[in-house]
Amino acid sequence: MQLNTEILNKLTSIVGVSYVFTDIETRNHYGHDETEDYVFPPNVVLKPANNKEISEILKVANEYKIPTTPIGARTGLSGGALSIYQGIGLSMERLNKIIEIDEQNLQVTTEPAVITQVLREAVAEKGLFYPVDPSSQGSCWIGGNVAENSGGARAVKYGVTKDYVLNMEVVLPNGEIIWTGANTLKNSTGYNLTQLMVGSEGTLGVITKIVLKLLPQNTHNVLMLVPFFKASQACEAVSAIFRAGIIPSALEFMERDAIDWTLKYNDNININVNDNVQAHLLIEVDGNYPEILFSEAEKIMNVVEQFEIDEVLFADSEDQKNALWKMRRSVGEAVKSNSIYKEEDTVVPRYVLPELLNGIKKIGYKYGFKSVCYGHAGDGNLHVNIIKGEMNDENWEKEVPKGIREIFELTVALKGTLSGEHGIGFVQKNFMDIAFSKVHLELMERIKYVFDPNNILNPGKIFPDENN
Ligand code: LAC
Ligand code: ZN
Repeated sequence: MQLNTEILNKLTSIVGVSYVFTDIETRNHYGHDETEDYVFPPNVVLKPANNKEISEILKVANEYKIPTTPIGARTGLSGGALSIYQGIGLSMERLNKIIEIDEQNLQVTTEPAVITQVLREAVAEKGLFYPVDPSSQGSCWIGGNVAENSGGARAVKYGVTKDYVLNMEVVLPNGEIIWTGANTLKNSTGYNLTQLMVGSEGTLGVITKIVLKLLPQNTHNVLMLVPFFKASQACEAVSAIFRAGIIPSALEFMERDAIDWTLKYNDNININVNDNVQAHLLIEVDGNYPEILFSEAEKIMNVVEQFEIDEVLFADSEDQKNALWKMRRSVGEAVKSNSIYKEEDTVVPRYVLPELLNGIKKIGYKYGFKSVCYGHAGDGNLHVNIIKGEMNDENWEKEVPKGIREIFELTVALKGTLSGEHGIGFVQKNFMDIAFSKVHLELMERIKYVFDPNNILNPGKIFPDENN
């Protein structure tokens, strides 16, 4: 679509001329995130200063039926921030302040464009803990985390973003501004619009303030890297650890290629992996009492020793812990730098993780693709990176989506679902029929309609294309 001068003038009068961008460089910059190599530039990028300006923008968007896509840090992996129907790219970057750290109630109120790690460090300075730590925490924003209901390595013990959001200020697509809930830990008051907004991927409203619950900071942790000679046994060990009575603060799985590619990508990480090791579990326990943590680590050792494993590495310094976490966090980037790829975010109940992994490999064999799997095994959340490698373009375009469909069918048959933490966005939407019946999808569509009858806010996301 094109935005005519009249519309552009109206938008400019709302945000001011310095915050309206129509040059192709800026539009391209805001037209991509970390999802494959997609670029969908909006017609115009706006950088509003506050909720009032966003409200005025959305009123204009409604009047002229202009697709409007909220844009965060653009670190997403499902294309949620792509302006696929052009229109307005609504960059949230100027709403970037931590408003208040409430030490009396263990809460923080923040604007959306605060880098997650910055928020975590700011509350840590007050002895408080915001546990949600996506791998991209050094660059992603808390608003995007809320929009996608992001997880991360610590979710296995502490939960995901939704478990910390108490209340939010949201600009609705018609320009009205509401608070979704209350700043309380409990709330049985009417429908839970806070939780409906979390994970709605910018399709129901624009989040302008977020109130998060915090925990007291804990003081100690033990981190171990366990090499397995069989990848399926690494997956089996995952549920065995919980059944032994331990809830680790992280339980991450990495296939051999994930480690090899990451070590190649980060030449300053020094870890030796023996030839016949097929996979690793990175396991952390945390708390305040070292003796308890050592006894938990011992229990974990008793479990993993029942499988075929190589020598376990216990991180013996902060530097080594940081190196191991850096390795784990950069798997995604390392895979991306190695080959064209597609990423799926499968999640199943953790006991069936071995079946999921074996099934994915079989499907890959059938369709001729290689996959590199890693992720939050303790949550049953396996990131499946499908590698293009030497595959020709035709098979990549035509055959691989059939394989992905089979992977999702398997995931759902195992009582799992399509995405654990990356969202559906643009790239997974045409698989939604696997997870949901028509009735269920229609209910969701009707909710969208109640909020956004003109379908202006982040259109083309979550819901399958009509001709799919
Ligand atoms: C990770 C991101 C890709 O787990 O979710 O590294
Ligand atoms: Zn992840």
